[in-house]
Amino acid sequence: MSLRQWFERNGDRRYIMFGGKGGLGKTTFSAATAYWLARQGHRVLVFSVDPQASLSDIFERDIFGKGAVKIVDNLWAQEIDADSNIKAYQQEVRKKIVDMYGFEHIPEEIEQYIQAASAEPAMEESAIFDAVVDIVVKGDYDYYIYDLVPLGHALYYLSMAKVYDEWINRITQLREQMREHEEMVARIKRQKVTEEDQILHELQYIKGRINQSSSILTDKERTAFFFVVVPEQMIILDTEKATELFSRFDVPIAGYVVNRVLPEELARQRVPPYLQNRLAVQSHYLEQIKHTFGDRLVGSVPELERDVTGLPMIEKLAAIMYGDGRG
Ligand SMILES: Nc1ncnc2c1ncn2[C@@H]1O[C@H](COP(=O)(O)OP(=O)(O)O)[C@@H](O)[C@H]1O
Ligand SMILES: [Mg+2]
Repeated sequence: MSLRQWFERNGDRRYIMFGGKGGLGKTTFSAATAYWLARQGHRVLVFSVDPQASLSDIFERDIFGKGAVKIVDNLWAQEIDADSNIKAYQQEVRKKIVDMYGFEHIPEEIEQYIQAASAEPAMEESAIFDAVVDIVVKGDYDYYIYDLVPLGHALYYLSMAKVYDEWINRITQLREQMREHEEMVARIKRQKVTEEDQILHELQYIKGRINQSSSILTDKERTAFFFVVVPEQMIILDTEKATELFSRFDVPIAGYVVNRVLPEELARQRVPPYLQNRLAVQSHYLEQIKHTFGDRLVGSVPELERDVTGLPMIEKLAAIMYGDGRG
């Protein structure tokens, strides 16, 4: 099956992700796919949470932290600025403290604490998380192309959701046990019950937010995850490992796309030994890729004459990946 056939047959899958190690072509494929889908008449948002602002590079527009920026008809791109989201959080926390305790301004020690807390990696994750949920929940688009940062990140969301799940299940259990014994326990226990309820409420809220985002990653009806691979030993091995891991987290893997394939016709021409050798090595790994991923291989993209930046190159790549739209 080709990528194009895949999209034609899977019209319900509206959250599209390309995953894989850094530098393989995730952002490039995300942009080309978004461009092609927009050309087909769908409203498309391609968005990124990567602080290494790469959609700005590929579209040659400064879109970082500017919300959804229109690129061409039907196509919007967005780069989430986690830092400014964290600043907004800090502001919110300050306001709550001032309101709660009736301070004129934030005491120095508390300010220091707020600053320190914001430097925590978890804070950035959570700011990104919130932004993604907000974007997706609004539902303004037909397609969401999620330009992922390297593998681990996506998994982090999933594992976090699982951890919260377990946590909340335990608390719910405790709470139910307490209910059962309620008639036997003294008032002091009741106090405890109320506290548990508050914690539960808070946790459920957080869990709800996280689940919205991670459930998208695992929604078999609406999400498709494509792995980008290149014909190299290490990458093939890594992709196999990642496949196993992702399957364990129920990520709906839709297929594999090979990138940076040197044109095969070179092999039939007189080329220097260096290139001959590269081609031989490549054809070995292409065989291995076919053998390993089989019918889940949905595309093969050649190494182009230059890097893919700017609309003409994106259009060119989209035509290679999806056909020129005429047939
Ligand atoms: N098929 C290709 N031909 C030529 N350059 C490519 C191709 N695919 C990707 N590139 C270039 O490789 C670099 C890395 O691609 P990118 O999409 O940013 O990777 P990732 O998002 O996975 O880190 C970019 O400069 C991009 O233009
Ligand atoms: Mg990228």
